[in-house]
Amino acid sequence: MPDVTISDVAPRDGIQSIASPIVETEAKIALIRALYDAGVRRMEVGSFVSPKAIPQMAGTETVLAAARALPGLECTVLVPNQKGFEAAIANGADRLGLFMSVTEGHNKANVNRSRAESLAGLSEIVKATPKGTKIRFNLSCTFHCPFEGVVPEKDALDFVGRVAALDADMEIALADTTGNASPDQVKRLFIEAQRRWGLRFAFHGHDTYGMGVANVLAAYEAGCSVIDSAAGGIGGCPFAPGATGNVATEDVVWMFRRMGVDTGIDWSKLLVAADYSAAIPGALPGGRMRGVPSARKAA
Ligand code: COA
Ligand code: ZN
Repeated sequence: MPDVTISDVAPRDGIQSIASPIVETEAKIALIRALYDAGVRRMEVGSFVSPKAIPQMAGTETVLAAARALPGLECTVLVPNQKGFEAAIANGADRLGLFMSVTEGHNKANVNRSRAESLAGLSEIVKATPKGTKIRFNLSCTFHCPFEGVVPEKDALDFVGRVAALDADMEIALADTTGNASPDQVKRLFIEAQRRWGLRFAFHGHDTYGMGVANVLAAYEAGCSVIDSAAGGIGGCPFAPGATGNVATEDVVWMFRRMGVDTGIDWSKLLVAADYSAAIPGALPGGRMRGVPSARKAA
């Protein structure tokens, strides 16, 4: 087991916000294969959501089938409701990425439900999930909301507690959907959440304000060992106005490599995947490390 598990979300969070053109299913599969060749063993490969809400995620069945053929790859798909749950189980997802927001405003915009409605629906899904299918419960806007601003830490923790009570083992991601979190805020929330509910939290961050890597480091130093990032720094939530790409996988992996923390990922091959990701038509790439010539030469 590597010291840190990277879950690459480029195939989902990365691609979902591209307005046009629609990314070919084959291109999504090629990205997943390039990441796999680089040693990434966990990815968010798509989402079972309404194709009207997120047209780029149509075809997730085909992408998931191709990803499942790669030995040892753990495939997560996002699931907002019962219909998505049924599709995820029918198509053999390894892990369900349930999701809702900590704030009412973003939850309404994203899934057209109140938080109470989402929590009730998702808690039924948690109960109905077969043993052998893992769950990740993603909490969007844990730190900051595009509609409500910075989330008071007490409110965030109260909400995390309600989700943690649904299942004692389930992984929970504290997500910085807008990229507005500050590292001290990330560190405090992780320390407190882990103290209350154990070492089962993942961090999902965006780089909108250039704080992506600093926030990953803050989560890691607080004890978090599951990190979401997107090769090429592409991505963003279409329902979070102004939010840009996920923290770039290559920036995160470079930092850990430089720190001597094992991620199980091959640097040179990761650059191949990151270049591919950044060049997806319509994608808005981010991150720094693809553009650092001396780092590109590092073995
Ligand atoms: N997968 C595919 N289609 C779905 C679906 C799912 N999981 N859930 C609902 N639908 C379809 C319904 O069948 C219905 O189709 P129809 O119009 O052809 O009859 C339509 O979507 C509306 O269904 P309804 O239950 O009324 O949903 P809604 O309009 O209130 O939308 C969500 C709710 C959750 C389905 C929608 O907001 C959504 O997919 N959001 C995803 C947001 C997202 O992925 N954000 C990025 C991740 S953070
Ligand atoms: Zn995101």
